[in-house]
Amino acid sequence: MLLKYINQWINDIVERDEIMYIEMREINKTFDGFHASENVSFGVEKGHLAALLGPSGSGKTTILRMIAGLDVPDSGDILVEGKRMNDIPGSKRGIGFVFQNYALFRYMTVADNIAFGLEIQKRKKTEIKERVEELLELISMKDLGKRYPHQLSGGQRQRVAFARALAPDPHLLLLDEPFAAIDAKVRRGLRSWLKEMIGRVGVTSIFVTHDQEEAMEVADTIIVTNQGRVEQIGTPEEICHHPATSFVQDFIDLPRYEALMMK
Ligand SMILES: Nc1ncnc2c1ncn2[C@@H]1O[C@H](COP(=O)(O)OP(=O)(O)O)[C@@H](O)[C@H]1O
Ligand SMILES: [Mg+2]
Repeated sequence: MLLKYINQWINDIVERDEIMYIEMREINKTFDGFHASENVSFGVEKGHLAALLGPSGSGKTTILRMIAGLDVPDSGDILVEGKRMNDIPGSKRGIGFVFQNYALFRYMTVADNIAFGLEIQKRKKTEIKERVEELLELISMKDLGKRYPHQLSGGQRQRVAFARALAPDPHLLLLDEPFAAIDAKVRRGLRSWLKEMIGRVGVTSIFVTHDQEEAMEVADTIIVTNQGRVEQIGTPEEICHHPATSFVQDFIDLPRYEALMMK
């Protein structure tokens, strides 16, 4: 009898340790009978940065939209710290977004763009001002608060988008191909910048990309998607050297990974 309790107690501890910050459990989503997500399951640990990597149309954005509460799964559970989120409105989930096409507000200054989420939350003026200053400093754009988006480079605009998403202190940051519209040269610098920023802020993040190099440079864990399904979850090294399926094997360009590791 005592042994049974001890076992139960140990199991509880082990389970608690394994709780992911965010977890998708057997998520299904169809659009007019088309399976955009099929039994999608994965988790991201607190403070980690995971990448969803897969070809265009493999269901990456659909997954982010369901996490954000913009779409509702047909079945399955979305858990945050073990609590089911499916029925919580998106605005109450404490999520920040940086989307490729989620552009800055053109007629607002950089500072007002960053303040936007805080204004909605009706925070105090002095508090908003302080937070905006802090974020401008974080993104190294301290003196550019009065500029308008058209007076910035593409890279600077995405840095502002990042600051705007972080302003209300989200628990989870979702980034959907945030650098896709930026030239290759600038993109590279932005990736390492983003990785460093996320590490510094410590926010749990999910980064979507169709570019394997981008996923490998940015993320600790990669979730490979194909036709609405998860093909493999692993570190860049595991995905490249031990592809779990023939899809992953074909999709990953091993010489490119090895060249990246040499740099
Ligand atoms: N609102 C929608 N209505 C119909 N089909 C959709 C909708 N959203 C996504 N899809 C379909 O689901 C599939 C996955 O889309 P998406 O999640 O955007 O993929 P990815 O982000 O990997 O490119 C695509 O075939 C797309 O056409
Ligand atoms: Mg997409």
